[in-house]
Amino acid sequence: MTTTGTPLTAEQIIADSKRYTLYDWQAQSKVSPLAIDRAEGVYMYGVDGRRWLDFSSQLMGVNIGHGDKRVTDAIARQAEKLPYISPFQAFEGRAVLGRKLAGLWPGNIEKTFFTLAGAEANENAVKIAKMVTGRQKVLARYRSYHGSTYGTMMLTGDPRRWPNEQPPMPGVVHVLDPYHGPQRGFDDAETALALLEETIELEGPQTIAAFILEPVTGTNGILIPPDGYLQGVRELCTRHGIMLIADEVMSGWGRTGAWFAVDHWGVVPDLITTAKGLTSSYAPLGAVGLAPHVAAYFDDNVFWGGLTYNTHPLGVAAAIAAVQVIEDDDLVGNAKRLEPVMQAHHEALAAKHPSVGRYRNIGLFGILELVKSRETMEPLSPFNQLNDTMQQVNRFLIDNGLATFIRWWNVMTNPPLCIDEAQLAEGFEIIDRALDIADAAMED
Ligand SMILES: Cc1ncc(COP(=O)(O)O)c(C=O)c1O
Repeated sequence: MTTTGTPLTAEQIIADSKRYTLYDWQAQSKVSPLAIDRAEGVYMYGVDGRRWLDFSSQLMGVNIGHGDKRVTDAIARQAEKLPYISPFQAFEGRAVLGRKLAGLWPGNIEKTFFTLAGAEANENAVKIAKMVTGRQKVLARYRSYHGSTYGTMMLTGDPRRWPNEQPPMPGVVHVLDPYHGPQRGFDDAETALALLEETIELEGPQTIAAFILEPVTGTNGILIPPDGYLQGVRELCTRHGIMLIADEVMSGWGRTGAWFAVDHWGVVPDLITTAKGLTSSYAPLGAVGLAPHVAAYFDDNVFWGGLTYNTHPLGVAAAIAAVQVIEDDDLVGNAKRLEPVMQAHHEALAAKHPSVGRYRNIGLFGILELVKSRETMEPLSPFNQLNDTMQQVNRFLIDNGLATFIRWWNVMTNPPLCIDEAQLAEGFEIIDRALDIADAAMED
């Protein structure tokens, strides 16, 4: 609304948003946002009346779908009663959510530290690991994203780190993961673990506080580890007294067809971090789960950390309601049931479109990797670039009613977990048409 009560047009919203606010991750002259009015279920609606199927759950976080009144009402009720109280106090929501998460975290993890979002959850997990072990270094993987605060940007291994290394944070050691790009594919668990063990030995295990990893890697390509890898990492970390931090900011809350990705392999980390799907992104909230032996350290040692908005009542209310929706609507089960349906769509696209080089999904965490040639498997867009073809694919999807996350040569297929088979088919039909553009750009 303007001050005169007249609603702004889509053009005005976009123009003023661009002029007066700074957008994330882009040169401002290249920014081209959609003017969104509202969103419901798996769809979002533009101020200009257009509709898009949300095939990435925004930033892979709106797990329950948009506009669920069970959550918005809970936030409103909390806002009426107690919108804010300092993190030094206790309130009902804190008690309820703490107890709830103790029942959902992997293994015997019971204690939770609530943060604002994913990055600070990771910052705190690393601080905790350093405090508890008294060690300095942290292992992280090149193909990873852990957030964009200073510390988490330095843990991040992907090229988003490069412009931020002014200077790099001391003590971070990046390692390879089992995946090596579309051309080389995945190592088996044994090979990946042997390389990891060698790195740990050469670095000096007694100097390493933690290994942080995304159990199923998100924006670096939905990388599903070979069976045995995560169990092997767990064993290596235990053997060397290294804390295993599972960054489940994106992979948690049913996305993979389990509450947490580590559950697929029966692995219990020392620390687990999460955000996004915890509230289904309806309000900011992150969380760090601490295994009992980690939490026990703070019985008599001060936890040196805290932010004004930690354990914020509005985020907590959103989380209680959103987690309840996941349970009531069996969305973890829906993601699991739709896993083979998504896989069949991916397979059908690969059978029809030679530009689909690799594809995979676990639950509703999916990706299509586009290539220039099936023979060489060279990616359709160079590393760390979104070339003209990928931009055209993206534009086609938007123009035809589907919004998703396109990165380098990757098309992400990560809809809200409440999606049904017909809606899934609707999305893949639009992607099917867009892939003609990719096919036409392949090398002869
Ligand atoms: C795996 C992972 N870790 C951490 C983060 C950072 O979370 P946030 O943006 O909530 O700080 C993200 C965000 O995309 C993520 O995907």
